[in-house]
Amino acid sequence: MTGDCETAPPQGAAADWTVPQRWGDYTPAEHAMWDRLFARQTGMLPGRVVPAFLQGLDTLGMSEGGIPDFEVLSDRLMKATGWQVVAVPGLVPDRVFFEHLANRRFVAGRFIRTPEQLDYLEEPDVFHDVFGHAPLLANPVYADYMQAYGEGGLRAASTGVLGKLARLYWYTVEFGLIREGDALRLYGAGIVSSFGESVFALDDPSPNRIGFDLKRVMRTRYRIDDYQQSYFVIDSFEDLLEQTLSTDFGPVYADIFGADDIAEDAILATDRVFTRGTQAHARRLRG
Ligand SMILES: [Fe+2]
Repeated sequence: MTGDCETAPPQGAAADWTVPQRWGDYTPAEHAMWDRLFARQTGMLPGRVVPAFLQGLDTLGMSEGGIPDFEVLSDRLMKATGWQVVAVPGLVPDRVFFEHLANRRFVAGRFIRTPEQLDYLEEPDVFHDVFGHAPLLANPVYADYMQAYGEGGLRAASTGVLGKLARLYWYTVEFGLIREGDALRLYGAGIVSSFGESVFALDDPSPNRIGFDLKRVMRTRYRIDDYQQSYFVIDSFEDLLEQTLSTDFGPVYADIFGADDIAEDAILATDRVFTRGTQAHARRLRG
């Protein structure tokens, strides 16, 4: 969760933009909302989500009920992979976001959606940020990828390519698919925290499902207002980490800097295509 504003932290926040979670302030209704969302997603995800996600839920004791206390969660995460979850008041500037990731801290919103917002949110809430993101941070390889992304962001911060780097985050951390044998599985937090997209991303004939390629992904536009028109499929977390670490981003940026953007629904001759989508969903929405 980032914004472009390079402003000072809001009142009440620390210099690194963190705030206390104030876990004791959550109401029974807020905990009940978490439990409702948790039951809905965990009832549906087995068989759809990458097994490492379910292992992470287990390692972090997330089925204990109610909104997790970030201190307890961070203790468990620290033991597993050295990560922590810290609360922030809302969107944070890119540099602050990268700095936290590079130091193995994931920033999370503390508020939870209301019943009226069950399936649509303008800003990520604690359910998206913690249920969606925390379980895979307990996986050592994924944990290293997130840190590498933060470090890449810090290096790129002054180069004018952050928009392209954001696409990498979008199509992996938020909306990534992974291959498991012949099957595809979910791992992106934006998918696994959404009931509708957890079905759409795997089962719907509408979207493209294309093999992950770092440069291709960084050139591809994405939708922020609806389900994705293309999903990118990684072979493994090891491969994703390897591609990220072994790539000297300097030449990659030079390569793609002047290149045209690729449309959300495009399929290129060079793509490894798992599914050629009908795009019926996107067409229906646009009338
Ligand atoms: Fe997210």
